[in-house]
Amino acid sequence: MKNIVVLTGAGMSAESGIATFRDADGLWEGHDVMEVASPEGFYNNPELVLEFYNQRRAQLKSVKPNQGHFRLQKLEENYNVHIVTQNVDDLHERSGSTSVLHLHGELRKVRSIKNEQLVYSWEEDLVLGDLCEEKSQLRPHIVWFGEAVPMIDQAVELVEKADVLVIIGTSMQVYPAAGLVNYVQHGAPVYFIDPNPSVKESDFNNLTIIKEGASKGMEQLLTVLL
Ligand SMILES: NC(=O)c1ccc[n+]([C@@H]2O[C@H](COP(=O)([O-])OP(=O)(O)OC[C@H]3O[C@@H](n4cnc5c(N)ncnc54)[C@H](O)[C@@H]3O)[C@@H](O)[C@H]2O)c1
Repeated sequence: MKNIVVLTGAGMSAESGIATFRDADGLWEGHDVMEVASPEGFYNNPELVLEFYNQRRAQLKSVKPNQGHFRLQKLEENYNVHIVTQNVDDLHERSGSTSVLHLHGELRKVRSIKNEQLVYSWEEDLVLGDLCEEKSQLRPHIVWFGEAVPMIDQAVELVEKADVLVIIGTSMQVYPAAGLVNYVQHGAPVYFIDPNPSVKESDFNNLTIIKEGASKGMEQLLTVLL
């Protein structure tokens, strides 16, 4: 079977009711991103940051995968599909996709602030005083702005082996994720699904833009790929 690699961003989950950044003027649920998604923000006001991610984690219980997620899962009938997501929600997993690499971390995990190898599943609220087994404070398992992206090398390897690359719902402004498209093999088709795409077809070799939301866009793409 051919390999399809799918890069997804916040727009993938928009139809599930999870807000994106750019559609809200660069705010994440009303907050300046540096306030809630940077090490400095955490240092300045850890309670606010923990509460912000507690709310995001709690929201997962009330949202569901959308048709875009389910249609992506359907590609697995005919292709080896690897999803590389910038999203920290769990909607790809809940729609049944079997290979999901989270570049920017996961809401349902936390880790030690001192030893990043100590990662734990976490379903409830996280507060100051919740400690890892080495007695250091736990923080959300999220890659914040300015932090290294440990999964990027694995993502590059996947993209290099893609026969087809699909990009859904990302403004292509957050690096290194946005640079992944540059690793695709010459000649491999690239499909970009976004109602408000930030790229033009002439920007990349073999690029087709589907100017739709994730559900409709995936419906169109399935007619091409299946
Ligand atoms: N669901 C989540 O996990 C979530 C939500 C918000 C932010 N984030 C984080 O914020 C960063 C934001 O960067 P980004 O590029 O992913 O998002 P972004 O907010 O910068 O861009 C969102 C993109 O989605 C598009 N979009 C809007 N509605 C859509 C729809 N129905 N279908 C398809 N596309 C749609 C927009 O046109 C835009 O190009 C990421 O690093 C991510 O970790 C994650």
